[in-house]
Amino acid sequence: MVLKGKTVVLGVTGGIAVYKALDVVSGLKKLGADVKVMMTKSATEFVSPITFQAISQNPVAVSMFEEPKAWEIQHISLAKAADIIAIIPATANIIGKIANGIADDMVSTTVMATTAPVIIAPAMNTNMYKNPILCRNIKTLKDLDYLFINPDCGRLACGDTGEGKLASVDTIIDEIRNALLYPVKDLKGKKILVTAGPTQEAFDPVRYITNHSSGKMGYAIAKAALCRGAEVILVSGKTNILPPPNANFISVTSARDMYDAVMENAESCDVIIKAAAVADYRPETISDEKIKKNGNMTLSLTSNPDILKSLGEKFGGRKTLIGFCMETQDLIENATHKLKSKNLDFIVANNIKNEGAGFGVDTNIVTIIDKNGEKNTLPLSSKEDVANKILDRIK
Ligand code: CTP
Repeated sequence: MVLKGKTVVLGVTGGIAVYKALDVVSGLKKLGADVKVMMTKSATEFVSPITFQAISQNPVAVSMFEEPKAWEIQHISLAKAADIIAIIPATANIIGKIANGIADDMVSTTVMATTAPVIIAPAMNTNMYKNPILCRNIKTLKDLDYLFINPDCGRLACGDTGEGKLASVDTIIDEIRNALLYPVKDLKGKKILVTAGPTQEAFDPVRYITNHSSGKMGYAIAKAALCRGAEVILVSGKTNILPPPNANFISVTSARDMYDAVMENAESCDVIIKAAAVADYRPETISDEKIKKNGNMTLSLTSNPDILKSLGEKFGGRKTLIGFCMETQDLIENATHKLKSKNLDFIVANNIKNEGAGFGVDTNIVTIIDKNGEKNTLPLSSKEDVANKILDRIK
């Protein structure tokens, strides 16, 4: 219930994607938000206000001139109640109206009257979306700090294929949640490189050695940094997680691929956070053909480059370097040794034997140690909270 106490005023405008806004209402309610819906007349041609009323459990505002249910001027009371206004789906028409200061219905008038942030999810035919007038209107609004959720590419209701399909319901809910939970962009102007996930070290065309890293911690850091306004490069081994849409995403396979990607991009970054679980060893040779079974097998391994150590040698003291340390014993001693030997500013240490701190889970228990030896042990926390505690230390 992370959105408990927050009010989302949802402006629904007339497009075929209106029905998807019902799932957005339902998803926001599940997160604890109070959702108040307002609709344009055209939106009501697609889905009746009664349906939105039932799902939001609030009256739906459509007309500026209907008998008020309570004594209040509805567009003003909605504008004041909103912690955020979300326009889902947004037609070219409503974007044009807002960009040009036109307020002639419940949705456009409420947007005009609010001081809350406004987030807009366009959905329309590709040619409309590419129309220079619409592009200009979107730019005008972006320059005024209106937030946008980019549409997807795909098959559109009109039968065309292209950009203009309403972003997925999950993306929309996530973007509204992030806009509400991260109103302050305190990392604006920072460029952060995050590594995440495992590396894979092949020994024939079929097989590789790897580790259990899911990438969740690194992806949580990348996402939180983006929400706080940073520019993010995410260098990731293979995971099952979708990268955050606004990250500059570089997919890698082996430790040596990760080394190359990190070294190529590190110079341009202010902060480097190495959450990846890099394989320390790789098979000495990679067979061109599948290795056939033939009794016992011995795999000869050779060392991989230590990426963080190389970063410490090149950038220590010049850039903020943050490492991770995963142990099963002597956590603080081992972490302190890695902090010093790799020339880091901080190290985030966790013992994977602790329940809630292992691979693949959504929580972690970490101790953050800085280069002066100061230690801060956080209680069992979500990986998102741990990510924010790490990012709080970036100046
Ligand atoms: N790391 C790295 N390159 C490697 C190995 C580790 O950049 N080849 C980074 C990890 O991303 C992490 C930190 O170094 O931020 C510590 O990783 P960890 O696996 O805990 O320690 P190692 O240095 O590999 O030492 P050991 O395996 O002996 O514990």
